Amino acid sequence: MRNGVSLRPMKKTHPTPSTEGIDLRDVQRRLGSWYDEHARALPWREDVSAYHVLLSEIILQQTRVDQGMAYYHRFTERFPTVHDLAAASEDEVLLLWQGLGYYSRGRNLRRAAQIIVSDFGGEIPRTPEGLSRLPGVGPYTRGAILSFAYNLPYPTVDGNVFRVLSRLFGTTDPIDTTQGARIYWALAEALLDTAHPSRHNQAVIELGALCCTPRRPNCTECPIAPHCLAHRAGIEEELPIKQGKTKVLPRFMYYFLVRLPHASGGEGMLIRRRGAGDIWQGLYELPLIETGEVGITVEELTAHPAFCELLATLERPTFHPTPIATHAHRLSHRQIQATLFLLEAEGIRSTSPYLSIPTEERTAYAFPVLIERLLAKAK
Ligand code: ADE
Repeated sequence: MRNGVSLRPMKKTHPTPSTEGIDLRDVQRRLGSWYDEHARALPWREDVSAYHVLLSEIILQQTRVDQGMAYYHRFTERFPTVHDLAAASEDEVLLLWQGLGYYSRGRNLRRAAQIIVSDFGGEIPRTPEGLSRLPGVGPYTRGAILSFAYNLPYPTVDGNVFRVLSRLFGTTDPIDTTQGARIYWALAEALLDTAHPSRHNQAVIELGALCCTPRRPNCTECPIAPHCLAHRAGIEEELPIKQGKTKVLPRFMYYFLVRLPHASGGEGMLIRRRGAGDIWQGLYELPLIETGEVGITVEELTAHPAFCELLATLERPTFHPTPIATHAHRLSHRQIQATLFLLEAEGIRSTSPYLSIPTEERTAYAFPVLIERLLAKAK
């Protein structure tokens, strides 16, 4: 159960809200014909397998199709089968994932592949119950795998589908509440063309992506506009409704580019791997001091206990108090204000928690995009 919704077998288990008066068969037919003519030739549609659907759908969560495509190719080239992905190290998967954000998706994808190999003989499960055992696979991805890959009669609902359903049925229930989600899943189930679940579900998603867009939907080209209650009422741009915007809090992060000679003879820098329990788990980062929702001055920073601890791990450190880069970075619930300072040192003490790497090998480590941006801007 997630969002209070489970993927049930196709029997009607609760009343379907407000599909009355709409010829669902005609909507299905129109969607199917439109899809046959307009569907984009996307790689995961060209070469359909449950592994390809799993990969593409995890990559496409919170990612645009044009951006996700390059990552899909990278993953299928490097890991042609689920066995290859299961055998990869977390570092390698995160390095390939670099730049996509929401890195728990990448970590979960690898763990899901390991469970598929260890518990399902390498075959991606064909039931909602089996799929529920895979980390990172929620109701949407379950429905996508069951319908797109196995052509089984299960609905699926993502952001595109919420929008199409809300407009078609004129549903004003908020899409970001448990009760609202239940209603939209029931509508998706009622609308599902059980004879062609793969084509039908992809058609609704494609309509949302190409035609029934959030702003300025192209209703004149829309195959189901004659049935669309929002269109009839002229309120298509007002739907779907969201109950509340998530509050975005600031988070201040002060990074240090510690430059020092490396044992290999060239220049080195200090990094460390981030632990569990926060964003960017398993990625690498520069030495960091965080001050939560409140920023501090350079004077306050140099008096901070964590700054003194950092200096204590270095031989003959020199701190440069003028920032060499700043960058603002938005996450779903946080507005990060990052500042990068330069610290030069002649060496690192053996008690240091940091790893000294040759600067030229930096690209072998997966860093959050924020750090890549800071380093690219560094003067
Ligand atoms: N967005 C999410 N999944 C998608 C898919 N399979 N095809 C196109 N757009 C998508």
